[in-house]
Amino acid sequence: MANIMEIQNVSKIYGPLKALQDVSLSVPPGQWLAIMGPSGSGKTTLMNIIGCLDTPSLGEVILDGVRLSSLKPGELTTIRREAIGLIFQQFHLVSYLTALENVMMAQFYHSLVDEGEAMEALERVGLSDRARHLPRQLSGGEQQRVCIARALINHPKLLLADEPTGNLDEINEKLVMDILHKLRGGGSTIVLVTHAPEVAAHADRVIVLEHGKLAEDRLNERGGDAGPLAAAGLAESEGEVGGAKMAS
Ligand SMILES: Nc1ncnc2c1ncn2[C@@H]1O[C@H](COP(=O)(O)OP(=O)(O)OP(=O)(O)O)[C@@H](O)[C@H]1O
Ligand SMILES: [Mg+2]
Repeated sequence: MANIMEIQNVSKIYGPLKALQDVSLSVPPGQWLAIMGPSGSGKTTLMNIIGCLDTPSLGEVILDGVRLSSLKPGELTTIRREAIGLIFQQFHLVSYLTALENVMMAQFYHSLVDEGEAMEALERVGLSDRARHLPRQLSGGEQQRVCIARALINHPKLLLADEPTGNLDEINEKLVMDILHKLRGGGSTIVLVTHAPEVAAHADRVIVLEHGKLAEDRLNERGGDAGPLAAAGLAESEGEVGGAKMAS
């Protein structure tokens, strides 16, 4: 099957600084990719380029067969809202809107989503009972799950998450990882930035950036075909995140 994402010799240059240097990467559909690397190594820069929030100085990104450099800004916005779900470390929730209304606003305020659809997305992250709460009435973990629900509107093919568990305690981290496992089990392609090896261990593949360069690219070892099976198992039994099981 064709790759959902092709990054070809991408560089991002800010004056004397090369935030990304000649990065190339192919990602097949359904893969869960973790991006690691020290602070300032270019992880968010790469995510922003994949997420159509930024453009490379050099090189090409091809998403689902579409060469992004060939698109006009309006067309980039269309791809972003139709094919991509974005989850950030900073929650970016609107403080005076309820959880449900935040999800209805969808990402980038491109449209108002049907209330039923928004409710369904909240259910998928286990938050239907918090739908009428304002962000300040929600815990950090719950706010992050609202952001995930918002990213799931439109059922994006590609889910990009920049340190989605960075602000969370262990229990909420586990809830978020559980949701990501279920999404991967459902066929979504996931790109996850994380500093935490135990979070990266959930992914199928880990790349490491150093000074904007691709320093490492490895598959996480699993027993047999444990990835999809573990994900399916998770969908049935809550509370069985396979971190230890799946880590190499
Ligand atoms: N708009 C910008 N203008 C100039 N330099 C920038 C800009 N955005 C990012 N940089 C620089 O590019 C480098 C990579 O930044 P990036 O945000 O991608 O790092 P990161 O790997 O996500 O780090 P962290 O783990 O701290 O989030 C950094 O040195 C940063 O200062
Ligand atoms: Mg970053």
